[in-house]
Amino acid sequence: MNQVDYLRISLIDRCNFRCQYCMPEGAELDYILKQNLLTDTELLTLITEIFIPLGFTRFRLTGGEPLLRPNVVELVNKIASLPQTQDLSMTTNAFLLAPMAQSLYDAGLHRLNISLDSLVSHTFDQIIGNRGQGRWQAVWEGIQEAYKVGFNPLKLNVVVIPGVNDHEVLDLAALTLDKQWHVRFIEFMPIGNGDLFGDRGWISSEELRQRIRNRWGLVESKVPGNGPADVFQIPQAKGTLGFISQMSECFCDRCNRMRLSADGCLRPCLLNETGQIDLKTALRDGVSTAKLREQVRGLLAIKPEINFKQRESGTATGVYTRTMSQIGG
Ligand code: GTP
Ligand code: 5AD
Ligand code: SF4
Repeated sequence: MNQVDYLRISLIDRCNFRCQYCMPEGAELDYILKQNLLTDTELLTLITEIFIPLGFTRFRLTGGEPLLRPNVVELVNKIASLPQTQDLSMTTNAFLLAPMAQSLYDAGLHRLNISLDSLVSHTFDQIIGNRGQGRWQAVWEGIQEAYKVGFNPLKLNVVVIPGVNDHEVLDLAALTLDKQWHVRFIEFMPIGNGDLFGDRGWISSEELRQRIRNRWGLVESKVPGNGPADVFQIPQAKGTLGFISQMSECFCDRCNRMRLSADGCLRPCLLNETGQIDLKTALRDGVSTAKLREQVRGLLAIKPEINFKQRESGTATGVYTRTMSQIGG
């Protein structure tokens, strides 16, 4: 069985963007109330008394948009300083990143995954739900600043939506020619915004690889990824190309992660919340961390079954209620 040692922690469900594929309209109506968010202290208690003793050593901070979390730099520092933390990373939209990049790095965060779905400002504005002009520029500056500060690896995530940004795949792939960046193309999943998915559908990673192959050639990368991405490279390019193919190919058997929501619910699978444990309520009700640890151990034991159940049924309907922005990808 795969070692599950990677916890994705959603710090906040709010976001300053409204990416069409992630946050359906009206999602803000369900924002978690402040008093229901895990506090920093509660989160650290869960990490040190439950997850680390169960063998978790890798943590990723997600959102919504994690940089909206108050005192995020301090929290990064506390998690990075734990002696058992072997890897700490963040998935961000980078809108607020430029002025924070250095302090995040100094606090102990050394790797970042950044969403970048377009290189064209007005397409970008449309994708993020027209949240105001000039946002692409701020994100681009965030990426440049992160590169300058030394974040490594620096991964750029592109959710490919037919007819919206798929014509930019070659331009986005070309970013890796002279920069040591990891550009990853993600197959669009029907989670978050079923209507858009119904209208647009998705494009397979293999089709994208063929387009890239036709232009430059493509080889498998010698550096393997540590997650769901299959990693390739344009010959002689400095960076790599990752393909996350959850629609065309099942990678559940190599799943190494669990997810903790901003309100403290632990779910075993991105697409299946069967068996999820409300750790925050239990903590606040005075349940001991020793008892909670045993519950989480039990969930870990049945996780493979939960992962595969979702796949066998061929649909996630009925097994999740949260949007992608609430889960953190
Ligand atoms: P690292 O390999 O540690 O850099 O992380 P990652 O690639 O998993 O992180 P990231 O937050 O960039 O995730 C990218 C996307 O991959 C997510 O937004 C999802 O679309 C997809 N993904 C990540 N983990 C899973 C998973 O467990 N199941 C499925 N179906 N998709 C996943
Ligand atoms: N399909 C695939 N990936 C998605 N993300 C958000 N919504 C979807 C979706 N419907 C990913 C984005 C972002 C991360 C937080 O979640 O790539 O980088
Ligand atoms: Fe916000 Fe990220 Fe979702 Fe876009 S993908 S709405 S940036 S949480």
